[in-house]
Amino acid sequence: MDDQAIDTIDALIRDYKVVVFPGQGAVDPLALARFAARFGAPEIVRHPIHTDSPETPAVKVLHSDGRGYGGEIGDTWHTDGSQREQTNWLSFLQAIDVPDYGRDTLFADMEAAFDGLSEATQTFLGGLTAMHSWGADDPTKPSVEHPVIYTDPRTNRKCIYVNQQYTRKIVGMSTAESEAILKFAYSLAYKPEYHVRVSWQPGTIVIWDNQRTQHYLVQDRVHDRVMHRSMVLRPWDANGPVPSVRMHESVA
Ligand code: SIN
Repeated sequence: MDDQAIDTIDALIRDYKVVVFPGQGAVDPLALARFAARFGAPEIVRHPIHTDSPETPAVKVLHSDGRGYGGEIGDTWHTDGSQREQTNWLSFLQAIDVPDYGRDTLFADMEAAFDGLSEATQTFLGGLTAMHSWGADDPTKPSVEHPVIYTDPRTNRKCIYVNQQYTRKIVGMSTAESEAILKFAYSLAYKPEYHVRVSWQPGTIVIWDNQRTQHYLVQDRVHDRVMHRSMVLRPWDANGPVPSVRMHESVA
C-alpha cells in the first residue's frame, strides 16, 4: 500500500475507531505485521495466553474454543493493553479459521459512553486515576496506573479508560467507593447504543483503537476459532512516527 492509502486508513481509524476489511484472503503473519507496522511501532512482547506466530513474534495466534481464551479474556468487556505501562494503540485482527456463524466480536465506543454522561460525572471521573494489572493471567507483573479519562490528542475527544478485565481499583479510594464507581463505569460499555458487531469470515481484518473502545468475544458456540493479531503502540509516544522501513526490519 502506498502512503496515501495508509493515511486514508489512519483517518478512518481516527474518525470511526473500528474499521472492517472483509475478504482480504490469506495474509501471512509477516505481511500482517508489516502492514500494522506502517501505523506505529509493533508491540513485540510475550503474552501469557496467546502464543507467538512461528513467523514473527509481532503476531500472536489467538486460539479459542467455546470457553474463550485461557482465563476469561474475551467474554468480558475489555481493552487490550491497559495493564501495560505503555498501552496498546491499534490491534489488527485477522480471522483465519472461524465458524460459519457465531463467535462475533462486539466493540463499544467509549467516547460515546463519555459523551453520554452528565457534565458533573464527566468532571468527577476526569479527576481520577485507576490501577490496572494482569491479575490471575500473570500475577508476577506489577500493576500500573492510568487516568480514568483519556483524551485523544488527535481529536481532543475524551473517553472512559477503565475495563472489567484489567482495572483493579481507583487510586486513593476505599474498596467500597472504588468498587461502586468502577461498577458504574464498566456498565457504560454494555449499552447497545454504543456498539458495533463484527461477524467474521475467513480473511476479514479488523483494525481498532484500543484506547477509545472496548471489545467482547461472544461465546455463543463451541467451535475452534483461530485469529492472528498484531498490535502497535501510538507513534506520538515515541517521538513521532518511526520510518516504516525500520519497523519492517524489527518485525522480521
Ligand atoms: C482480542 O481480545 O483481542 C480478540 C477478540 C476476538 O478474538 O474476538
